[in-house]
Amino acid sequence: MRAVRYTRTGGPEVLEIAEVPAPRPGEGEVAIDVSHAGVHFADVMFRRGQFPLPLPAVPGLEVAGTVAELGPGVTALRVGQPVVAVPTGFGGNAERVIASAVTTIPLEGELAGLDPALAAGAACNAATAVGTLRSAARVEKGDRVLVLGASGALGLLLGRLARTLGAALVVGAASTPERAARAVRAGYDHALTYGELAAKIDELTDGQGYDVVIDSVGGEPREQVRGLLAVFGRHVVIGNAADRDITMDANQVWYESFTLAGYNLGGVLGRRPDLLRAHLEEGLRLVADGTLLLDVEEIGWDGVAEAHRRLEGRTAIGKYVLRVR
Ligand SMILES: NC(=O)c1ccc[n+]([C@@H]2O[C@H](COP(=O)([O-])OP(=O)(O)OC[C@H]3O[C@@H](n4cnc5c(N)ncnc54)[C@H](OP(=O)(O)O)[C@@H]3O)[C@@H](O)[C@H]2O)c1
Repeated sequence: MRAVRYTRTGGPEVLEIAEVPAPRPGEGEVAIDVSHAGVHFADVMFRRGQFPLPLPAVPGLEVAGTVAELGPGVTALRVGQPVVAVPTGFGGNAERVIASAVTTIPLEGELAGLDPALAAGAACNAATAVGTLRSAARVEKGDRVLVLGASGALGLLLGRLARTLGAALVVGAASTPERAARAVRAGYDHALTYGELAAKIDELTDGQGYDVVIDSVGGEPREQVRGLLAVFGRHVVIGNAADRDITMDANQVWYESFTLAGYNLGGVLGRRPDLLRAHLEEGLRLVADGTLLLDVEEIGWDGVAEAHRRLEGRTAIGKYVLRVR
């Protein structure tokens, strides 16, 4: 079968289209004939070697398609069923992928009308938005929420969902005024550049600070977060796009009365796939009913490397989805 593959880590040029053996499902798993596969920022992080992964590797952690084969013990799905899935170990940018039955959701019932390209493009970020805001940030009615990286594919979903959960103020931050403006067009109350955050804190939060800061960015914005939080505020770390972390003493959490929290889709998938399924189902329902909106650009096999370039070059607008067949 055809797959996007890399045999060494590095820039987007390490991605190649290769013929690889089709995988077979094990106990509790299904094989999916992929029609659409999201190209995700996590694919970029693994491709450039930010985290170890056995090589050769096939990227792709969100797909839509049809069930091709059931592994032993799978009774809740059937061959030919249209599904969206988060595969267990990447591999989604391929004609066939393996996913656990637990994280394979039929595109039926409330999800029957959901476009497969939209489903594949939304899967990981919609699940992450739900898991981050409900389980990690525990957003409550009236909260003042700040989202770093607000104009990215995930950032736009976080802004919409924070509003839906009752946040009183939803502020976004981005690298440029143009990207900030995009966040406002998508529903943020205000959006600033990272450099403006400290100066605007009193004006936007009545001098109180933010109850929740969602941080997928790292780097300099992460260094600023503690100065932006309200008393008992929650700093929720969900990524490190800048590839630069900070260190912090646990005593700081005590001295400054704040909460440090996190959400990692891969970690939840590994330890509580049932919980990931719940986040995924809710996220997809919110996409299907129009609460969460995303722009999807379908690309062909030869467009994957360019999609990676745009994601790490901070010029991506919306979500790239590989049309597999
Ligand atoms: N925890 C999880 O399970 C989980 C799940 C999904 C996504 N994420 C993370 O969430 C982030 C956004 O993902 P996405 O799908 O929305 O990707 P995306 O559409 O490419 O957005 C990337 C975002 O990161 C910001 N950014 C800041 N520094 C960057 C840098 N050095 N290089 C590239 N982008 C940078 C960009 O905005 P500016 O240029 O305006 O700063 C942009 O908003 C990523 O870090 C991803 O790993 C985490």
